[in-house]
Amino acid sequence: MDKRIAVLAGDGIGPEVIKQALKVLEAVAHRYTHSFTLDYGLVGAAAIDETGNPLPDETIEACRLADAVLFGAIGDPKYDNDPNAKVRPEQGLLKLRKSLGLYANIRPVQLFNSLIDRSPLREDRIQGTDLVVYRELTGGIYFGDKGRNTDGTEAFDHCNYSVQEIERIAKMAFEAARRRRDKVTLVDKANVLETSRLWRETVQKMSNRFPDVEVEYMFVDNAAMQVVQNPSQFDVILTENMFGDIISDETSVITGSIGLLPSASVGDQTSLFEPIHGSYPQAAGKDIANPVATILSLAMMLESFEMFEEAKRVRSSVNKVIAKGLVTPDLNPDNFISCSKVGDVISLLIESDIDDDHTFEDLFEGNLPLI
Ligand code: IPM
Ligand code: MG
Repeated sequence: MDKRIAVLAGDGIGPEVIKQALKVLEAVAHRYTHSFTLDYGLVGAAAIDETGNPLPDETIEACRLADAVLFGAIGDPKYDNDPNAKVRPEQGLLKLRKSLGLYANIRPVQLFNSLIDRSPLREDRIQGTDLVVYRELTGGIYFGDKGRNTDGTEAFDHCNYSVQEIERIAKMAFEAARRRRDKVTLVDKANVLETSRLWRETVQKMSNRFPDVEVEYMFVDNAAMQVVQNPSQFDVILTENMFGDIISDETSVITGSIGLLPSASVGDQTSLFEPIHGSYPQAAGKDIANPVATILSLAMMLESFEMFEEAKRVRSSVNKVIAKGLVTPDLNPDNFISCSKVGDVISLLIESDIDDDHTFEDLFEGNLPLI
C-alpha cells in the first residue's frame, strides 16, 4: 500500500518521540512492503519561531493532502509564563483540529500487565482497567467567544454546544461501546451547566436507538474520583472538550505513565494521531522521553489504514519490550534505556522473525548497548 503522512513534530520532546515512531514506520514498511511518503510540516512554537505563525498555511495544506497526520507535541514555557502573548503555540493545534474537522478525540486506556507495579494506584484497584475516552474536540469552552472587558479587569470564555455537535460524537461513542462491552458513561455537570443539560437530553434521546448499550450519567467531579478509585467500571467515557482534557490526563495515572497513552482525532477529513502527553520541555533534547505513546498512536494510524496485522505487530513488539523492562526513566528511574533505544528495540523486533523469549534474549544479548 502507498500512503502519504503529514508529520508535525512540534515542540519540546515532540521531535524525539516522532523520530522513534518513524523508525517503527520504516520497519513496518520494510517488513510488509508498504511505501509511506512523509511530508514534514511546522507547528507550534517551532513554527512561531520560524514564521511568526503557529500553524502556517503550508502545514494545513500538507495535512489536507495526506492520508493521515502524525503529531508530536506542542507548547513552550516561554509562552506559558507570558499570559499576554499575542500568539501561542497551542493556537496552532486548536486551529488544526478545527480546520480538519477533528471533532472526536479517542483516548484508549489499557493496562500493561508488566507495569502494574509502576502505577501509584493499588493493584487491586486498577486490575481489569480497559476504557476509552471519547472527548469532543472542536466545541465547548475551547472554541467559544473569549475576551476581556474594556479595562481588562474581567474576562470570559463562553461554552457553547449544539445538538448536532453532541450527536455526531455520541453516535461514535455508542458504536464503539457496541464493539466493546456495551456501556457508555456520559460525564457532564448537568446539575449546574446548561450545555451539560443539552448533552444529557441529547444522549438520553439517542439511547433509544441503542437499546443494547447501557448508558450511565455521571457528574464530572464524581467521575474524577471514580476514575482512579474504580476504573474498571468504565467502558466508553463520553464527554465534552474541557472535561475530556482533564479526565484523560487523570486516567493516565492508572497505567503508570502519561508517556504510554496514544490518541486518534477523527472527523470529516484526514485523521490525526498524537500522544496525549504534552511537550515536556524539561526533558527536551535529553533522549529520556517515553516514545511509546507516539508509537501506539502510530499503531492506531495503521489501523485506520486497515493495516491490522501491521498494527498488531507494532503493539505486540511494544508489549514485549516493556515486559522485558526495556523502558525509559519515567517507568523505571533506576534501570532505564534511552528514548532512541526504545525506538531501536521495538523496530528491530518488528523486523526480526523471533517470537519466543529465548530468541528475544539472543537478539539483544551483547548486540545492543542498552544505555
Ligand atoms: C491535549 C492538550 C491540548 C488540549 C493543549 C496542548 C491545547 O492538553 O491534547 O490534551 O488542551 O487539548
Ligand atoms: Mg490535555
